[in-house]
Amino acid sequence: MQNFDLRINNLRRECLPLLDCPEWGAYDFYIDYNVVNNMSVMQIDTYPEQETRGSRVEGARYTSKEFALAEWEGMWTKVWLLLGRESEMPNPGDWQMEEVGPESILMVRQTDGSVKAFYNVCQHRGNPLVAEETGSVKRFVCKYHSWAFMPDGTLNFAPDKEDFPEGNPCGKVRLAELACETFAGFVWINMDLGCVSLKEYLGPIWEEWHARDIQSWKRYAAPTVNLPCNWKVVLDNFNESYHVPTVHMAATPATDRKKIRGGIDTYFKETRFDLSDEGHNRMIMKGGFGVGATDEEGNIMEPLASELRRWELDPDEFKGKPEDTREALQKAKRELGPGRGYVHYEKIPDEQFTDAFHYTLFPNFAVSIWADGFHFLRARPHPTLDPEQCVFDNWWYASAPEGETTPVATMLGPVARDAEVPHVVYEFGEEVMGMTITQDIAVFIQQQKGFRSRGFKGVYLSKQETRIRRYHELIDDYIEGERP
Ligand code: FES
Ligand SMILES: [Fe+2]
Repeated sequence: MQNFDLRINNLRRECLPLLDCPEWGAYDFYIDYNVVNNMSVMQIDTYPEQETRGSRVEGARYTSKEFALAEWEGMWTKVWLLLGRESEMPNPGDWQMEEVGPESILMVRQTDGSVKAFYNVCQHRGNPLVAEETGSVKRFVCKYHSWAFMPDGTLNFAPDKEDFPEGNPCGKVRLAELACETFAGFVWINMDLGCVSLKEYLGPIWEEWHARDIQSWKRYAAPTVNLPCNWKVVLDNFNESYHVPTVHMAATPATDRKKIRGGIDTYFKETRFDLSDEGHNRMIMKGGFGVGATDEEGNIMEPLASELRRWELDPDEFKGKPEDTREALQKAKRELGPGRGYVHYEKIPDEQFTDAFHYTLFPNFAVSIWADGFHFLRARPHPTLDPEQCVFDNWWYASAPEGETTPVATMLGPVARDAEVPHVVYEFGEEVMGMTITQDIAVFIQQQKGFRSRGFKGVYLSKQETRIRRYHELIDDYIEGERP
């Protein structure tokens, strides 16, 4: 009875604010959604409904240097950013350096196990302390005049230390520190020392990700590409799935968005959107990785066929009934998963075994996450803050259950479980990033051109693109000095 009440309450909460919206008036969808997914409404909370102001989002936001500078000062230097990877720094003195816009940030494992973050700049005369991506040190020794900083940022040695009119800099000068926390296996930094905690900043994301043991997952593909477009072109794209049939399913015969096909059902009426108070969002597409396309005879195609076999299900039994694979896979994973080392399965809802959960964390991190891995999508502003360039990371992670030996299916093909994947940086056009992302990138480059046109009057967004409007409005809020 209690569960039933909870379900009705959630149903109400989900439906009522939307019933009077003409675009979302399909009440039958909500009934259908909640009956089909009656487990989900009990386990996956909705986020509160958000108001947007209807901003026009004009082209200059993507092309103006002035706007890029305002964005840097007002927003980038005030938000929590997912930056480093804890796995790069298992031991005290291990460090990693990553760039965001003009800043280069040094993250260092401390003797007490915590991680500190510093600006990668020597306090003598401004030389960067490290130039590589990772390493391990007893002290950071500057290559200009040999000032030596300890991993906790204190200056430990300076040649001719008695020769400084302001006094011996050792014990007095230290590296400039940023706010730094670790979560989900990543190192997060904030340049604003007066910021809220990361937990508060992430809101509902914190608990949802906490349950998945993401910190133990491993990276299996790590290309980064410098792109000739604004970082928001990339994030806009990952804040909507409206483009998916046009950009990614052109080759699918007889595309019918109401039918689950191509592995992901992108139809907006089958998709659940949530915007959090903190500015992040979540989209859940039913059947994402569990219900795939069939061939003309109704045979289940790859990669779903292999996924079924992996969980002791016979693809032939689902001939002509791809929609039945979703529940069957959920059941099989629930029953067999923990015994096969997928212990985190005990903490996650059935939907996560099959459906696409896509999160966008304000401002620049998007991730498609499911039970066994995630697609990591991050865009960073260019080091010169050139508004028409950005740095795009397109990485792939998978869970690492003990004893699992099947290769990981990444967007760049299968990778052995024990592989060490190097981080590779490409210039645009040099390397394929996986078919889907290559298709997205082709649009990014063209769209950037369109934003330069005086003929572009600003966006005209559908309801399902509200996540785009919301994060642009949040950028404006930050620039105005307001925070969510
Ligand atoms: S700039 Fe680093 S020691 Fe002089
Ligand atoms: Fe796409």
